[in-house]
Amino acid sequence: MTVELRVVDPSDEAVLRDWWEVGHAAEAERPHSPWPKWAQSRVALPAHNPERELTLVTAYDGGSPVGASMFSLPTKDNDHLAFVELWVLPQRRREGIATLLSRDLDARAAAAGRSTLLAEAKGLPGTVIPGERFALAQGYQVANEEQEKDLDLTTAPSTWAPLDDEVAEHAAAYRIETFDTVYPDHLIDGIARLLSSFYSQVPLGETDLRDSEWTPERLRAHEARLVEIRRSVISAVAVSDDGEVAAFSDIRVSHLAPETAEVGVTIVAPEHRGHRLGYAVKLAGHRRVLADFPDCVRATTCNADTNTAMNLVNERMGYVPTERLLELQKRLD
Ligand SMILES: CC(C)(COP(=O)(O)OP(=O)(O)OC[C@H]1O[C@@H](n2cnc3c(N)ncnc32)[C@H](O)[C@@H]1OP(=O)(O)O)[C@@H](O)C(=O)NCCC(=O)NCCS
Repeated sequence: MTVELRVVDPSDEAVLRDWWEVGHAAEAERPHSPWPKWAQSRVALPAHNPERELTLVTAYDGGSPVGASMFSLPTKDNDHLAFVELWVLPQRRREGIATLLSRDLDARAAAAGRSTLLAEAKGLPGTVIPGERFALAQGYQVANEEQEKDLDLTTAPSTWAPLDDEVAEHAAAYRIETFDTVYPDHLIDGIARLLSSFYSQVPLGETDLRDSEWTPERLRAHEARLVEIRRSVISAVAVSDDGEVAAFSDIRVSHLAPETAEVGVTIVAPEHRGHRLGYAVKLAGHRRVLADFPDCVRATTCNADTNTAMNLVNERMGYVPTERLLELQKRLD
């Protein structure tokens, strides 16, 4: 095989577009083709990311791109990890192209002093997931099982009245606030505290993700990137009588492709659970998306199968499972 791997200069649009086309073709088979639009990728990938150091590699056969990978190092926390993804054109599979890319990713992780690689494989329930088979062949193990879910925003909100009633009954002592991307000064400290405990609260299975400290400065740097790449993060918080941020939920929409919103983090502080705050913040965030982005017709989310509380909230809001998602982990010896 004469396949050659080349590191992408993300500021070179022609080269970046080759990389993008591979992922686009490789993910076209998935429901709703979730691969980002070119308009998003050409802005987001070259932009500085204070949270991640990114390396993109394209596999070329002659002059034609046939495979692609993404290697992403967290820079502010989890410095034992590397996040990796790879894709091969459907018509060029089972030729060993992903094996070449995977060895390159292993070498990059080792060179960066990272001991653990994390990847994801997605596929329809009840089918063979090529990414899973491939990853197991490369020495990964399934560390967590999750489900991707979709919500039809054109119909679901008409079913939310009973949830509103429950929130009104149980969460009356809390004030709900929403905001778009820029953290209000009076909330940023409380949000930073709550987010700092996220990984210790969410069911992670065997994935070796560790808590990290979110400071207001770190949140502001993250926010600046989002504004630059034109991605709105709509957040909703529940604030208790004494001004404490008791619950947080965010949902993300790109101004460059506003038809789909993606749920990010939802967390209720342990001492404030049992007041329907998960519903309260999620409903408020989704409604703000509907109000601010009239073209947004669907929302997606992803949760571990073991996350009973979150799965119940999502199911009652109308989310339906679409794909299995496997978190795959490999430790380099
Ligand atoms: C997963 C993917 C990258 C594999 O690419 P590929 O170039 O076909 O992989 P390789 O040819 O290097 O396969 C290496 C080994 O993985 C296993 N494997 C790969 N695809 C498989 C499949 N569909 N069924 C069973 N085993 C498979 C086999 O053991 C294979 O060796 P073999 O062909 O000698 O039996 C490709 O199917 C793809 O792009 N899928 C969509 C994106 C994705 O899932 N990415 C990976 C997430 S970890």
